[in-house]
Amino acid sequence: MCGIMAYLGGRDTVEVLLEGLRRLEYRGYDSAGVAVSVDGKIELIKSKGKISVLAGLLQNNKPEGRAGIAHTRWATHGPPSTANAHPHPDCEGHIAVVHNGIIENYLELREQLEKEGHTFRSETDTETLAHLFEKYYEGDLEAAVRRGLKQVKGSYAVVAMSDKEPGLLVAARQYSPLIVGLGEKPGENFAASDPSAIIPFTRKAYLVDNGEMVLLTADKVQVKTLAGKAVKKPVFHIEWDAEMAEKGGYKHFMIKEIFEQPHALRETIGDRIVGRRMGLNLEGLGLSDGYLRRLKKIAVIACGTASYAGMAGQYAIEKLCGVPVIVDVASELQHRESVFDKSTLGIAISQSGETADTLQAMRTAHRQGAKLLAITNVIGSSVAREADGLLYIHAGPEIGVASTKAYTSQILAMLLFAVHLGQVREAMTPRVARRLLRGIKALPELAEETLEEAGHIKSLAAKYKDIKRYLYLGRGAHYCSAMEGALKLKEIAYLDAEGYAAGEMKHGPLALVTEECAVLSAVVAGPHYEKSIGNLQEIRARAGRVIAVANKSDKEIAKYADDVIRIPETEEVLSPVLAGIPMQLYAYYVADIWDREIDQPRNLAKSVTVE
Ligand code: AGP
Repeated sequence: MCGIMAYLGGRDTVEVLLEGLRRLEYRGYDSAGVAVSVDGKIELIKSKGKISVLAGLLQNNKPEGRAGIAHTRWATHGPPSTANAHPHPDCEGHIAVVHNGIIENYLELREQLEKEGHTFRSETDTETLAHLFEKYYEGDLEAAVRRGLKQVKGSYAVVAMSDKEPGLLVAARQYSPLIVGLGEKPGENFAASDPSAIIPFTRKAYLVDNGEMVLLTADKVQVKTLAGKAVKKPVFHIEWDAEMAEKGGYKHFMIKEIFEQPHALRETIGDRIVGRRMGLNLEGLGLSDGYLRRLKKIAVIACGTASYAGMAGQYAIEKLCGVPVIVDVASELQHRESVFDKSTLGIAISQSGETADTLQAMRTAHRQGAKLLAITNVIGSSVAREADGLLYIHAGPEIGVASTKAYTSQILAMLLFAVHLGQVREAMTPRVARRLLRGIKALPELAEETLEEAGHIKSLAAKYKDIKRYLYLGRGAHYCSAMEGALKLKEIAYLDAEGYAAGEMKHGPLALVTEECAVLSAVVAGPHYEKSIGNLQEIRARAGRVIAVANKSDKEIAKYADDVIRIPETEEVLSPVLAGIPMQLYAYYVADIWDREIDQPRNLAKSVTVE
């Protein structure tokens, strides 16, 4: 949510800042701006709208300087406008600030600063920081930032510059992501809210922790605590390469990432399944067998798509290990007082690893004595760092706001964990474990086979293009497919789509079914097959159109559906990985017909770092 990029060095500063911002645009795209230090002055250029609008402005009026900060915004305090765009200056334009997060006590601080004579130009909480730093500035930006931040309650990743100290940037972090990029060649350094911004320039980084401050010049980076104590940081190597964050010939990141799923699933498996005997090695899991044997309950902490991946894991763990699993969205879970205790394992699932609701619920879980396992994509992210155990999904950068490859990889990671837990607790025989692992190992290839349906799914999207109301239904392992399918369509096609447990239809939603409504349902072989067919009959009896996602070998399904999308056979507990793919493709092709902004849907952002 919002992206920060900062640069010091000898390259074309504005070009570096814009390149970083373009890679961060998925985090927010309401407005953007840059501040560049030019001959002892700060030049500020910002605009409402996307980075392309800002780039247009900069084309004819490009400040030339060796240090700058930049920002792309997802509006929280104050609507999208040029005035509310970052960077924010102080009264006289001597200081400029970019910020992600929320300053919770900004109204109180603003009132005080206004009384003291400061003039505000925006409605943002961020501008308070610029005035606070101005208030405390006595020729030393580091000291001013330190004193200012002492007054602040809330979350921030902030970078400040002053025209009096042109070669210096001061950054700080509290609960919002911040990374420092160390120049591969001497004489340049970077800071950003996300590794994807700096990967074209460097892979060497410092991961800034909460309560830390960074002083950056082109030649030196010093990390300190907010109290001023020097901190020695290990250099972190970013594995993702620049091409992974490019569209590579695809029309959108989303479709590229959908097609990357076989590769992403292979990476999630990595060398975790070993040899012909199907040994499972979850190195780095960080949870002892003794603990896993003792735990009594699991609670999945996640938001949106990640929570639906959690539902797939819930079904697998309950079925295979006999351990009860609660799944609730993190914004609710953090307030549920009696979910967590010492015998409960919290599993936090998050692609970005920076989702504020997820982090808050993790903190609630920890306070109440639970241990935490993180399933995340971003190495060194806050979710990874705050957990006791870790399973990285290694899906590579996911840029499209709609989560696709992270979803299926998260399910796969949950499945690996389910098999491990079942083995440790002796809830499954070695034979069953081997069978499941063989099935998991085959998933990347089966995902490739599923993607061959893309052309057919595109034609269905065209056939049903005038349908404006969708229901997505699923049972058992595919309750999650229904929820995720509906979310994808809402998110990128802006159509009414509701996900339901199919059994709930008769308790209300059936009233929505008319010939103007289409129903998508995953009906795969397994214990819920017959009842799911019953639901399709109910729909068709009321003139609703049915698109079924069913197994290739299913000879019956065509009798109950208007159209069928085929997926290969696999174990029922593993099948959500495959059923997720047609749901993504359908949403994508419908959204493309309507010419939606698929990678950056309105009102949304990729990484939601505010509660
Ligand atoms: C999915 O397409 C969404 N963009 C959204 O629901 C997302 O999954 C959610 O915000 C959680 O994000 P995270 O995985 O980065 O924590």
